[in-house]
Amino acid sequence: MKQIHRLFVCTAQKSGVGKDVVKALKKELKHQGLHKQEVNGETVRIQVQTCDCLDLCKNCKKGPGAALIAYPEAVTYGNVLPTDAAALVAEHFGRGQVLKRLRVEK
Ligand code: FES
Repeated sequence: MKQIHRLFVCTAQKSGVGKDVVKALKKELKHQGLHKQEVNGETVRIQVQTCDCLDLCKNCKKGPGAALIAYPEAVTYGNVLPTDAAALVAEHFGRGQVLKRLRVEK
């Protein structure tokens, strides 16, 4: 069986930082070997997708970075910069922990 986990990254900011965050997250997932994993005999793929406004604007277009939501966990992150991609991927997908410094409540 195959599972797909998704990261929806808002790209509605005028700055365009969300698109850079998407590129950085995809690069880090591959670099850290986490874009496709075998977990208990199941293939788990992680897809990074762009999306429109997530209604987290306080932590997105009003700040320096982008907002994103990780599913199926429904964890929300805000003000994410491309330079945060390595830490976010390592903590959220590598260790299975929430990266607390970027977590925001919806
Ligand atoms: S503009 Fe990104 S969450 Fe609203």
